[in-house]
Amino acid sequence: MEESRRSRKILVESSAEEATALACELIKSILCETVHLEHVCRIALAGGTTPHALYQQLTASCSSGEVPWEDVEVFFGDERDVPHDDVESNYRMAQRTLLDHVPVIPSRIHPMPADSDDLSEAAEEYEKIIRRIVGGQSEGIPQFDLILLGMGGDGHVASLFPGTEVIAERNKLVTSYFVPVLGRNRMTFTFPLINAAHNVLLLITGDDKAETVGSLLGDDATASKPLPAAHVDPEGSFLMVLDAAAAKRARLTTP
Ligand code: 6PG
Repeated sequence: MEESRRSRKILVESSAEEATALACELIKSILCETVHLEHVCRIALAGGTTPHALYQQLTASCSSGEVPWEDVEVFFGDERDVPHDDVESNYRMAQRTLLDHVPVIPSRIHPMPADSDDLSEAAEEYEKIIRRIVGGQSEGIPQFDLILLGMGGDGHVASLFPGTEVIAERNKLVTSYFVPVLGRNRMTFTFPLINAAHNVLLLITGDDKAETVGSLLGDDATASKPLPAAHVDPEGSFLMVLDAAAAKRARLTTP
């Protein structure tokens, strides 16, 4: 989708609920438009509390038949090293808040095998599935139609944590590694895959993210360099949706 290349938007809404509602509308429009043009839409979901609220609102806001869910292929941008039915699983969270409530075809849902005994092999397998199912190629990298992201207070996106080597990964599109700050393994998309996408939507809400958003969108660009979120720079459109609380140190105005 040539017309969406390198488009950047920062959208600020007054409240978390309004920012989430705007994100829902943007997602629905990308899903509908992509299916209209390509007959399929490949998306990757995020985990965390902000995406949890987003999926709940997306479910509630989708009227019957509004979104062609049966033409959507669903992947996950990161996952915890737990079984799919574990309370910490991103797959389980997305299932309960969204996927169980919309007519996605079960065989088109692709959970990350992050509970595997061999996480490196599992990450390679997941990358192969992505290469097979996700169309489009940017320099040999499959292009998702939409990757959803949240951001942690430390600036991590997906499971790309500050100070870890995976930030600089250039060859693997999906990787697994031990995250020292969590004391746990995570499986995650890497930046080459995230940045090849046609659309990336990053939703950030809440006061507790204000300082990090301030570093990310402040005047001193170098201050944001260590933040993984500063490396999100997709080929296509980048929609950053914020609420006023998260944006308060970024010197942005509400529309
Ligand atoms: C996860 C994601 C993570 C998340 C952000 C936002 O937790 O699975 O890896 O990137 O999307 O940390 O989460 P919160 O809204 O909970 O801060």
